[in-house]
Amino acid sequence: MPNDIFSGRNVKFIKTILINDKKDFNFPDFLIIILTVNNDAVIKRPSAVRLLDTIFDYLTRIARERSIDKILRLIADFGRDVVSADRCTVWLLDEKKNILWTRVAHGVDRIEIPRDKGIAGFVAKSGDPLIINDPYSDPRFDKDVDKQTGYRTYGIIALPIRNSSGKLIGVVQVLNSRTPLKKFTVKDQEHLVLAASYAGNQLEAVLLQEELDLTQKEIIFTLAETGEMRSKETGHHVKRVAEYSKLLGSLYGLNETDSLLLKTASPLHDIGKIAIPDAILLKNGPLTAEERSHMEEHTVLGYEMLKHSDRIVFKAAADIALHHHEKWDGTGYPVGLKGTDISLYGRITAIADVFDALASPRVYKQPWDKERIIETFRKDSGTHFDPDLTELFLDNFEDFWKICMQLKD
Ligand SMILES: [Fe+2]
Ligand SMILES: [Fe+2]
Repeated sequence: MPNDIFSGRNVKFIKTILINDKKDFNFPDFLIIILTVNNDAVIKRPSAVRLLDTIFDYLTRIARERSIDKILRLIADFGRDVVSADRCTVWLLDEKKNILWTRVAHGVDRIEIPRDKGIAGFVAKSGDPLIINDPYSDPRFDKDVDKQTGYRTYGIIALPIRNSSGKLIGVVQVLNSRTPLKKFTVKDQEHLVLAASYAGNQLEAVLLQEELDLTQKEIIFTLAETGEMRSKETGHHVKRVAEYSKLLGSLYGLNETDSLLLKTASPLHDIGKIAIPDAILLKNGPLTAEERSHMEEHTVLGYEMLKHSDRIVFKAAADIALHHHEKWDGTGYPVGLKGTDISLYGRITAIADVFDALASPRVYKQPWDKERIIETFRKDSGTHFDPDLTELFLDNFEDFWKICMQLKD
């Protein structure tokens, strides 16, 4: 037992509890209270200097972050640390679905709630901040969330997150003060307002960027699907090729940025087919030698269509369009490049494209079974396909098969 248990601070605290609760204490109760006080004292309200350090540290990190998931996590950490709370949840408003949802919460998975439910819903509706230090006696508090998560909430600050034009885009909510008195104060609320106002501007910028990225991806998919539909490759072919390419790229050791670039660009591999006449593209039966050589031009045509762009995605796509029919032993087209003269993205997309063609039904064939596909890739490794990539593909075949089944037409 520490010597200072009867120090002025502890005794004063105990007196306060005794007076407030008007409760009789026996000696064991008394010891428990002192131990609790000492324990909780470890987590103090941050000093002004530490608070400024915390704020500047998070502001710098949030300003650098471009990923929505990571920025939400940072804002939640920021909110939690700035007021010494136990948890912080950042709710985002989805106006179309009429819900508040969160990807990030300390210790819990994704949750969706109706936009007017609970404390977060109340703040989303009123637009005003709220401090509640006894939520179970507050009718606005939704006890179901605690029931779902097995967590016991004893204090809340919730306040709106607004974008630069003042529009509400979400709610930040901190739970359970970890300071000795376990109560949130108006000062805490002021600090959180500061965090939320900065977070709102950054969040808006990142959400807008995410919207632009998604739009770009959607345009690329639509463009790629238009090309594939003309050549009777329907359904999810381009989506599957995108996923296989990304997986093979990361198995090969590409970093996340490059695997994502490959995923975005690989669906455009056959975009040149848009310029191939229907009489050849849709011909039933075998092509003549002249028709075949026209057909093979889809590689160069795709490259010509994409090569003028300075955008990194289109540069990668131009490269893939040109190289995806080259073969490791130099017998492919349009140039007959050999080995690593064929670009890595082209070699990866070649495996992804052929795998999907074999595993999917076509007008003239049933989908092949796993054994037949594996056998074909073993046979063609080092002739058609890059042997190292083929080995990675076959070693992880089940993962590719899973994607194929999940995105079945
Ligand atoms: Fe092709
Ligand atoms: Fe294809």
